[in-house]
Amino acid sequence: MQLVITSHNLGLWAAAHICNRWKNSSKRPFVLGLPTGGTVEEMYAALSGLVKNGKMTFKDIISFNMDEYVGLSPEHPQSYHYYMHHHLFSHVDEKPENIHILNGQAADLDAECANYETAIKQVGGIDLFMGGIGRNGHLAFNEPGSAFDSRTRVIELTQSTIDANSRFFNNDPTQVPTRALSIGIGTLLDAREILILAAGASKAEAILQLVKGEVSTQWPVTALKNHAHATVLIDKEAASRLGTDILTQFDTLRKEDKDLVLSL
Ligand code: PGA
Repeated sequence: MQLVITSHNLGLWAAAHICNRWKNSSKRPFVLGLPTGGTVEEMYAALSGLVKNGKMTFKDIISFNMDEYVGLSPEHPQSYHYYMHHHLFSHVDEKPENIHILNGQAADLDAECANYETAIKQVGGIDLFMGGIGRNGHLAFNEPGSAFDSRTRVIELTQSTIDANSRFFNNDPTQVPTRALSIGIGTLLDAREILILAAGASKAEAILQLVKGEVSTQWPVTALKNHAHATVLIDKEAASRLGTDILTQFDTLRKEDKDLVLSL
């Protein structure tokens, strides 16, 4: 995998990357894995802009979202169904039948998860899986301790994630659902390419563990080291604990408007 530290806008960087991969791929439909979260809002705005300006279309894209809370209706403003329609699907031309988001209100949650895995396989797997990182290093809702071969399943959220996400629930952790459906780390690692974004000092510990720590289920993000085509794209704040050597290299390249790319 590679780590890219950039001074450019992460959302614009990521949207341009998605557009290039889609444009240069001969595979149609092109299958995207999609995240939610604060970090990727600008990416969705940029993708919406590309479609509006005729530079990209979602007509030949199939998407699978990473996760959804258990118990929230699609109309709930904090559901990931709502988020995706608000930030992306209402602005682009993806066919409704090509949009896949786990149903956190399914009567049989285990069957819902198994069917999701089948649906991903039926379209030939995911070409590019986008994602964010939790403060605790989680990928999708794969909390610390999740097996690297885990598949889509019901997850009990950790207090760290509930606290982090309470900012979207009136700053009241008791309003945050305690369970979610999430793709597994194994589901993510099956993708042909992965691009994960992290911004801000709250992600610096997870990035430190990724760069300097052991590969361990205690830091799910370290699973990406097992993938040949994974990129973690971060800003300077998320890189802030990587030490003066790396930060000095970054500052030198930044003056030339270049990113620092490290192979891990
Ligand atoms: P955030 O969430 O972008 O809102 O920080 C990322 C995540 O928890 O995976």
